[in-house]
Amino acid sequence: MRPYIIANWKMNGSFDALDEAWGIDEAAGEYRDVDVAICPPATLIAPMADELSYAKAGAQDCHQAESGAHTGCLSANMIGEVGGTLAIVGHSERRQDQAETSAIVAEKLIAAQKTGLEAILCIGEPLDVRDAGEAESYVCQQLAESLVGDIDPAMLTVAYEPIWAIGTGRVAGESDIAAMHAACRAQLVERFGDVGAGVRLLYGGSVKGENAPQILAIDDVNGALVGGASLKAETFAPIIAAAA
Ligand code: G3H
Repeated sequence: MRPYIIANWKMNGSFDALDEAWGIDEAAGEYRDVDVAICPPATLIAPMADELSYAKAGAQDCHQAESGAHTGCLSANMIGEVGGTLAIVGHSERRQDQAETSAIVAEKLIAAQKTGLEAILCIGEPLDVRDAGEAESYVCQQLAESLVGDIDPAMLTVAYEPIWAIGTGRVAGESDIAAMHAACRAQLVERFGDVGAGVRLLYGGSVKGENAPQILAIDDVNGALVGGASLKAETFAPIIAAAA
Protein backbone atom coordinates (compact mmCIF):
# COMPACT_ATOMS: atom_id res chain seq x y z
CA MET A 1 0.00 0.00 0.00
CA ARG A 2 1.39 3.45 -0.86
CA PRO A 3 1.99 5.49 2.28
CA TYR A 4 -0.01 8.68 2.60
CA ILE A 5 1.23 11.74 4.50
CA ILE A 6 -1.25 14.60 4.86
CA ALA A 7 -0.59 18.10 6.19
CA ASN A 8 -3.48 19.72 8.00
CA TRP A 9 -2.60 23.38 8.42
CA LYS A 10 -5.78 24.10 10.41
CA MET A 11 -6.34 27.89 10.78
CA ASN A 12 -2.71 28.74 10.04
CA GLY A 13 -1.06 30.19 7.00
CA SER A 14 -1.31 33.39 4.98
CA PHE A 15 0.05 33.91 1.48
CA ASP A 16 3.62 33.91 2.85
CA ALA A 17 3.10 30.30 3.84
CA LEU A 18 2.90 29.24 0.20
CA ASP A 19 6.71 29.10 0.25
CA GLU A 20 6.41 26.26 2.76
CA ALA A 21 4.03 24.47 0.41
CA TRP A 22 6.57 24.72 -2.40
CA GLY A 23 9.18 23.21 -0.07
CA ILE A 24 6.80 20.38 0.81
CA ASP A 25 6.15 19.84 -2.90
CA GLU A 26 9.87 19.50 -3.46
CA ALA A 27 10.04 16.79 -0.80
CA ALA A 28 7.04 15.06 -2.40
CA GLY A 29 8.93 15.12 -5.68
CA GLU A 30 11.92 13.57 -4.01
CA TYR A 31 9.94 10.71 -2.43
CA ARG A 32 7.54 9.73 -5.18
CA ASP A 33 6.56 6.44 -3.62
CA VAL A 34 4.74 8.44 -0.93
CA ASP A 35 1.42 10.21 -1.56
CA VAL A 36 1.52 13.71 -0.09
CA ALA A 37 -1.31 16.18 0.38
CA ILE A 38 -1.66 19.60 1.99
CA CYS A 39 -4.94 20.85 3.43
CA PRO A 40 -4.42 24.58 4.01
CA PRO A 41 -7.03 27.15 5.01
CA ALA A 42 -9.61 27.43 2.21
CA THR A 43 -8.10 30.72 0.99
CA LEU A 44 -4.92 28.92 -0.06
CA ILE A 45 -6.37 25.88 -1.84
CA ALA A 46 -6.56 27.52 -5.27
CA PRO A 47 -3.05 29.01 -5.38
CA MET A 48 -1.62 25.75 -4.09
CA ALA A 49 -3.57 23.57 -6.49
CA ASP A 50 -2.38 25.75 -9.38
CA GLU A 51 1.29 25.37 -8.54
CA LEU A 52 1.87 22.05 -6.78
CA SER A 53 3.47 19.42 -9.00
CA TYR A 54 3.69 16.36 -6.74
CA ALA A 55 1.62 17.04 -3.65
CA LYS A 56 -2.16 17.36 -3.81
CA ALA A 57 -4.15 20.23 -2.30
CA GLY A 58 -7.35 19.71 -0.37
CA ALA A 59 -9.78 21.11 2.17
CA GLN A 60 -10.15 20.66 5.92
CA ASP A 61 -13.91 20.24 5.66
CA CYS A 62 -16.80 20.46 3.23
CA HIS A 63 -20.50 21.05 3.68
CA GLN A 64 -22.88 18.16 3.12
CA ALA A 65 -25.19 20.20 0.87
CA GLU A 66 -24.46 21.10 -2.75
CA SER A 67 -25.43 24.75 -2.27
CA GLY A 68 -27.83 26.90 -0.28
CA ALA A 69 -28.18 29.15 2.74
CA HIS A 70 -25.16 28.00 4.73
CA THR A 71 -23.21 31.14 5.54
CA GLY A 72 -19.47 30.66 5.72
CA CYS A 73 -19.46 27.11 4.35
CA LEU A 74 -17.95 25.55 1.23
CA SER A 75 -19.47 22.76 -0.82
CA ALA A 76 -17.39 19.85 -2.08
CA ASN A 77 -18.00 21.08 -5.61
CA MET A 78 -16.50 24.50 -4.81
CA ILE A 79 -13.38 22.79 -3.47
CA GLY A 80 -13.09 20.70 -6.62
CA GLU A 81 -13.63 23.76 -8.81
CA VAL A 82 -10.48 25.43 -7.48
CA GLY A 83 -8.41 22.27 -7.88
CA GLY A 84 -8.79 20.60 -4.49
CA THR A 85 -8.85 16.81 -4.76
CA LEU A 86 -9.56 15.77 -1.17
CA ALA A 87 -11.48 16.86 1.89
CA ILE A 88 -10.93 15.99 5.53
CA VAL A 89 -14.23 15.24 7.27
CA GLY A 90 -14.99 14.67 10.93
CA HIS A 91 -11.84 16.18 12.42
CA SER A 92 -12.22 16.16 16.20
CA GLU A 93 -11.83 19.95 16.32
CA ARG A 94 -14.92 20.28 14.12
CA ARG A 95 -16.78 17.54 15.98
CA GLN A 96 -16.12 19.56 19.16
CA ASP A 97 -16.21 23.21 18.01
CA GLN A 98 -19.01 22.86 15.46
CA ALA A 99 -20.87 20.05 17.23
CA GLU A 100 -20.61 17.80 14.19
CA THR A 101 -22.11 14.39 14.84
CA SER A 102 -21.06 11.22 13.04
CA ALA A 103 -24.37 11.37 11.15
CA ILE A 104 -23.38 14.79 9.73
CA VAL A 105 -19.87 13.54 9.04
CA ALA A 106 -21.31 10.60 7.08
CA GLU A 107 -23.27 13.03 4.89
CA LYS A 108 -20.17 15.16 4.32
CA LEU A 109 -18.16 12.11 3.36
CA ILE A 110 -20.70 11.11 0.74
CA ALA A 111 -20.98 14.70 -0.54
CA ALA A 112 -17.20 14.82 -0.97
CA GLN A 113 -17.02 11.52 -2.83
CA LYS A 114 -20.02 12.35 -5.01
CA THR A 115 -18.14 15.30 -6.50
CA GLY A 116 -14.98 13.26 -7.03
CA LEU A 117 -13.04 14.30 -3.93
CA GLU A 118 -11.22 11.73 -1.81
CA ALA A 119 -12.57 11.73 1.73
CA ILE A 120 -10.24 11.63 4.73
CA LEU A 121 -12.39 10.52 7.65
CA CYS A 122 -11.09 11.36 11.14
CA ILE A 123 -12.02 9.39 14.24
CA GLY A 124 -10.58 9.34 17.73
CA GLU A 125 -11.41 9.23 21.42
CA PRO A 126 -11.12 11.85 24.18
CA LEU A 127 -8.90 11.16 27.19
CA ASP A 128 -11.69 10.25 29.63
CA VAL A 129 -12.87 7.54 27.24
CA ARG A 130 -9.32 6.17 26.91
CA ASP A 131 -8.91 6.24 30.72
CA ALA A 132 -12.18 4.38 31.13
CA GLY A 133 -10.86 1.60 28.88
CA GLU A 134 -13.51 2.28 26.27
CA ALA A 135 -11.40 3.74 23.46
CA GLU A 136 -11.82 0.86 21.05
CA SER A 137 -15.59 0.59 21.27
CA TYR A 138 -15.93 4.40 21.08
CA VAL A 139 -13.77 4.68 17.96
CA CYS A 140 -15.38 1.67 16.28
CA GLN A 141 -18.80 3.17 16.89
CA GLN A 142 -17.64 6.49 15.39
CA LEU A 143 -16.32 4.59 12.39
CA ALA A 144 -19.56 2.66 11.90
CA GLU A 145 -21.71 5.78 12.28
CA SER A 146 -19.52 7.83 9.91
CA LEU A 147 -19.59 5.19 7.17
CA VAL A 148 -23.29 5.04 6.47
CA GLY A 149 -24.68 4.98 2.95
CA ASP A 150 -23.19 4.62 -0.47
CA ILE A 151 -19.45 5.02 0.13
CA ASP A 152 -16.66 4.25 -2.30
CA PRO A 153 -13.82 2.63 -0.32
CA ALA A 154 -11.40 3.40 -3.16
CA MET A 155 -11.84 7.11 -2.38
CA LEU A 156 -11.64 6.73 1.37
CA THR A 157 -8.82 7.16 3.86
CA VAL A 158 -9.36 6.84 7.61
CA ALA A 159 -7.28 8.78 10.14
CA TYR A 160 -7.21 7.64 13.76
CA GLU A 161 -6.38 10.62 15.95
CA PRO A 162 -6.68 10.22 19.71
CA ILE A 163 -7.88 13.68 20.77
CA TRP A 164 -5.54 13.81 23.77
CA ALA A 165 -2.54 13.35 21.45
CA ILE A 166 -3.41 16.27 19.14
CA GLY A 167 -1.04 19.19 19.59
CA THR A 168 0.02 17.98 23.04
CA GLY A 169 3.33 16.33 22.26
CA ARG A 170 1.88 13.15 23.76
CA VAL A 171 1.78 10.23 21.32
CA ALA A 172 -0.32 7.12 21.81
CA GLY A 173 1.68 4.02 22.77
CA GLU A 174 2.78 1.79 19.93
CA SER A 175 0.71 -1.16 21.15
CA ASP A 176 -2.36 1.06 21.59
CA ILE A 177 -1.99 2.38 18.04
CA ALA A 178 -1.52 -1.15 16.69
CA ALA A 179 -4.59 -2.43 18.56
CA MET A 180 -6.77 0.45 17.39
CA HIS A 181 -5.65 0.16 13.79
CA ALA A 182 -6.27 -3.60 13.85
CA ALA A 183 -9.78 -3.01 15.17
CA CYS A 184 -10.46 -0.37 12.50
CA ARG A 185 -9.07 -2.63 9.80
CA ALA A 186 -11.33 -5.49 10.86
CA GLN A 187 -14.30 -3.16 10.76
CA LEU A 188 -13.39 -1.82 7.31
CA VAL A 189 -13.17 -5.38 5.98
CA GLU A 190 -16.50 -6.21 7.54
CA ARG A 191 -18.05 -3.09 5.99
CA PHE A 192 -16.48 -3.25 2.50
CA GLY A 193 -15.32 -6.86 2.10
CA ASP A 194 -11.82 -7.48 0.72
CA VAL A 195 -11.58 -3.90 -0.58
CA GLY A 196 -11.63 -2.75 3.04
CA ALA A 197 -8.13 -4.20 3.40
CA GLY A 198 -6.91 -1.58 0.93
CA VAL A 199 -8.32 1.49 2.69
CA ARG A 200 -5.41 3.47 4.08
CA LEU A 201 -5.38 3.96 7.83
CA LEU A 202 -3.40 6.97 9.05
CA TYR A 203 -2.33 7.88 12.57
CA GLY A 204 -2.49 11.49 13.76
CA GLY A 205 -1.49 13.20 17.00
CA SER A 206 1.87 14.87 17.64
CA VAL A 207 3.62 13.13 14.74
CA LYS A 208 7.06 14.66 14.17
CA GLY A 209 10.17 13.82 12.21
CA GLU A 210 11.68 12.26 15.32
CA ASN A 211 8.85 9.82 16.10
CA ALA A 212 7.60 9.22 12.54
CA PRO A 213 9.87 6.21 11.81
CA GLN A 214 8.54 4.31 14.85
CA ILE A 215 4.91 5.26 14.24
CA LEU A 216 4.98 4.47 10.53
CA ALA A 217 6.54 1.06 11.22
CA ILE A 218 3.52 -0.08 13.27
CA ASP A 219 1.34 -2.72 11.60
CA ASP A 220 -1.55 -1.24 9.66
CA VAL A 221 -0.30 2.34 9.96
CA ASN A 222 -0.31 3.45 6.33
CA GLY A 223 0.61 7.07 6.84
CA ALA A 224 0.07 10.11 9.03
CA LEU A 225 -2.19 13.13 9.36
CA VAL A 226 0.03 15.90 10.69
CA GLY A 227 -0.85 19.26 12.21
CA GLY A 228 1.87 21.35 13.89
CA ALA A 229 4.85 19.70 12.21
CA SER A 230 3.31 20.17 8.77
CA LEU A 231 3.45 23.97 8.82
CA LYS A 232 7.10 24.13 7.81
CA ALA A 233 8.72 22.20 5.00
CA GLU A 234 11.77 21.55 7.17
CA THR A 235 9.73 19.76 9.84
CA PHE A 236 7.31 18.03 7.45
CA ALA A 237 9.83 16.73 4.91
CA PRO A 238 11.43 14.29 7.41
CA ILE A 239 8.00 12.74 7.99
CA ILE A 240 7.61 12.21 4.23
CA ALA A 241 11.11 10.75 4.15
CA ALA A 242 10.27 8.39 7.02
CA ALA A 243 7.32 7.02 5.05
CA ALA A 244 9.39 6.29 1.93
O1 G3H B 1 -5.05 16.89 11.74
C1 G3H B 1 -4.02 16.81 12.40
C2 G3H B 1 -4.05 16.46 13.78
O2 G3H B 1 -5.05 17.08 14.48
C3 G3H B 1 -2.73 16.34 14.47
O3 G3H B 1 -2.26 17.58 14.91
O4 G3H B 1 0.13 16.95 14.62
O5 G3H B 1 -0.52 19.10 15.72
O6 G3H B 1 -0.89 16.91 16.86
P1 G3H B 1 -0.78 17.64 15.57
